[in-house]
Amino acid sequence: MMLSIVRNNSKRLFFLLNVFLFILNSIILFHQQSIQTCVNTSDSHLTTRQNDIGNNDYTPRLHQPLTSLILRGLLVFYPQSQEEEYLPELLWFYRSWLEMMQQEPFIWRTDLIIYTEKYTLPLQQLGCIYNRIRINKGELPQCRVFPYQTLDFRNGTDEIDKTNMYLYQQFDKNRSMSLMEYTKKYPYIDSINIIAECYPSFAMYDYILRTDIDVFLTKNFGHFVPHKDALLVGKGGYSTAFSARRLTRIAKDMNWMHANITNIGSTWYGPPHIAQRIANFSLEAVLHLSMNEFTLPERQGRLGDVLWPEWHFGVLSMYGTHLAVNHLIVAENIRIGLATTLLDQNTDTKDLYDIEKNNHLHLHCWHTFEPFSKSLFKDGRYNHINPSTLMNDTSASGYAMRLALESRLMSFGGLRQALLTSKSLPNS
Ligand SMILES: *[C@@H]1O[C@H](CO)[C@@H](O)[C@H](O)[C@H]1NC(C)=O
Ligand SMILES: *[C@@H]1O[C@H](CO)[C@@H](O)[C@H](O)[C@H]1NC(C)=O
Ligand SMILES: *[C@@H]1O[C@H](CO)[C@@H](O)[C@H](O)[C@H]1NC(C)=O
Ligand SMILES: *[C@@H]1O[C@H](CO)[C@@H](O)[C@H](O)[C@H]1NC(C)=O
Ligand SMILES: *[C@@H]1O[C@H](CO)[C@@H](O)[C@H](O)[C@H]1NC(C)=O
Ligand SMILES: *[C@@H]1O[C@H](CO)[C@@H](O)[C@H](O)[C@H]1NC(C)=O
Repeated sequence: MMLSIVRNNSKRLFFLLNVFLFILNSIILFHQQSIQTCVNTSDSHLTTRQNDIGNNDYTPRLHQPLTSLILRGLLVFYPQSQEEEYLPELLWFYRSWLEMMQQEPFIWRTDLIIYTEKYTLPLQQLGCIYNRIRINKGELPQCRVFPYQTLDFRNGTDEIDKTNMYLYQQFDKNRSMSLMEYTKKYPYIDSINIIAECYPSFAMYDYILRTDIDVFLTKNFGHFVPHKDALLVGKGGYSTAFSARRLTRIAKDMNWMHANITNIGSTWYGPPHIAQRIANFSLEAVLHLSMNEFTLPERQGRLGDVLWPEWHFGVLSMYGTHLAVNHLIVAENIRIGLATTLLDQNTDTKDLYDIEKNNHLHLHCWHTFEPFSKSLFKDGRYNHINPSTLMNDTSASGYAMRLALESRLMSFGGLRQALLTSKSLPNS
């Protein structure tokens, strides 16, 4: 019937031809789009997840927008009151930042951002500028120090400094007081609180890395960012079947959603607004946990670690983040990538091709006495090693060892000088 109509009507034929061309065109367009997508996807690196996570939606996808101007901030809380303990870590992290930038597209900018109580001499000598946010995209990479008032100073009514030096910190007074009361013996809350309270100091970055200080950036970090607006979380190790069930039950008590993912690492890499949202909810959860799920002797550390790994006050911030991330994935549809093979990777693996093959972006010192061990390093047990002998050792162990030893041998001024020249020549 169709055919007879067409035969009888050349206009219709013309019309049908057009329809056909339109469909053909759409197919081609669609095909082009899928090619585009493929190109972009092949840019991205897909990694396998740990088998124990029963959900396929959290594959960590990476992206390489090599010709776009990308701004990144590396955010750490630096407990200046324990500078002796943490300065060596800060130095090797700084050293790895320089190393990473050698592989970074020339137009990208990555700032190191340190929140701390005081602008100490070492920070000044390292060339870190004080209380100055990034105001333009072209500015060279900087180390920026922001004064941060730690939670343990918030015990009274006039605890907030009247000189108004906390330009970029938005105090949540109520919550701080409660956190202070319930988490006194727990020192790691500040490293989440910086993300919750200091948003104006990092809102201008495309991506931030929230991390501890005892870490190393690899060269891969130089040219990978999370795909789309996902936030990647690293490898964690706090979960047992018991604690996973318990946290699920606690989410119910709090009237929070639960996406059923676990072992969420301490490092986050993603857009600032998502990070702040997670930090904010993590603190709520930390407070709920301390008040309802830990007894006073546990909070006071009087049990030591006898309950580890089943239920341990020492990983309170991890439990808090666990609840926050699981809630926000469902409640606000935030995109999370479980970067269990990319972030928070061990520093004691000897495989020469591990970093490259598995695309590790970031190493984190786990408890170990195998090289590289941060405690042995701080004890001076590696001081006899000449870092130049490790130039060709591309294993995580060799890389961490070399950078840590170099950071120890370099002067503050030397590190600062290397920063000043880090973007002096286009390198890719
Ligand atoms: C692929 O990437 C390019 C450049 O980054 C971008 O302009 C384009 O929109 C992307 N295409 C898709 C389908 O995401
Ligand atoms: C608050 O803490 C500071 C420093 O820890 C201390 O000097 C001060 O006496 C405390 N104030 C109150 C009201 O407890
Ligand atoms: C702060 O805490 C007090 C006492 O817990 C409460 O009465 C008050 O409503 C809280 N204020 C805000 C803004 O949450
Ligand atoms: C949550 O994950 C665990 C294993 O990781 C699985 O045994 C359990 O069935 C999951 N629960 C839900 C509600 O998906
Ligand atoms: C922080 O979380 C609380 C609830 O947990 C919410 O009321 C508040 O608006 C949040 N603030 C931001 C900036 O996300
Ligand atoms: C590293 O490799 C280069 C080239 O293969 C070689 O010339 C150099 O001697 C090696 N250095 C060390 C410390 O092994």
